[in-house]
Amino acid sequence: MKRILLVHGPNLNLTGIREPGIYGRNSLAAINEEVVQKCARLGMECNVFQSNSEGEIIDRLHAAMDDCDGIIINAGAYTHYSYAIRDAISAVRLPTVEVHMSNVHAREEFRHHSVIAPVCAGTIAGFGKESYLLAVDAVKALVEE
Ligand code: DQA
Repeated sequence: MKRILLVHGPNLNLTGIREPGIYGRNSLAAINEEVVQKCARLGMECNVFQSNSEGEIIDRLHAAMDDCDGIIINAGAYTHYSYAIRDAISAVRLPTVEVHMSNVHAREEFRHHSVIAPVCAGTIAGFGKESYLLAVDAVKALVEE
């Protein structure tokens, strides 16, 4: 069975509470449950990790070398400036899908650029919690390549 790591970065623990007009009213726990269930339906196991700390996210990505086949990551604001997370994704050499709930290109200019995009297979943005569910299909295709 293929194993997927779902990583959420800073402030995403507040999903459902923070800026619901942008990120929706579903809690992160509810979104995670849907992702885990969809993975199971597709024959994949999903491990979920959230941290507000850059170093903890990097440590979890490193551990994925031993316990995962593919990664879905919403790095939150780290997306836009963390070269360290970019390097970690590049280092572990696992197929990775970048996710954003909001359409980052329709928001402030600093959100238009992702430093992790070049080391990810692709990006899904702008579909709310559906971004994560679409990413499950994308990562499935990648891990089964
Ligand atoms: C986000 C977009 C980022 O710009 C922001 O910092 C987040 C969430 C999204 O899911 O739309 O924390 O990654």
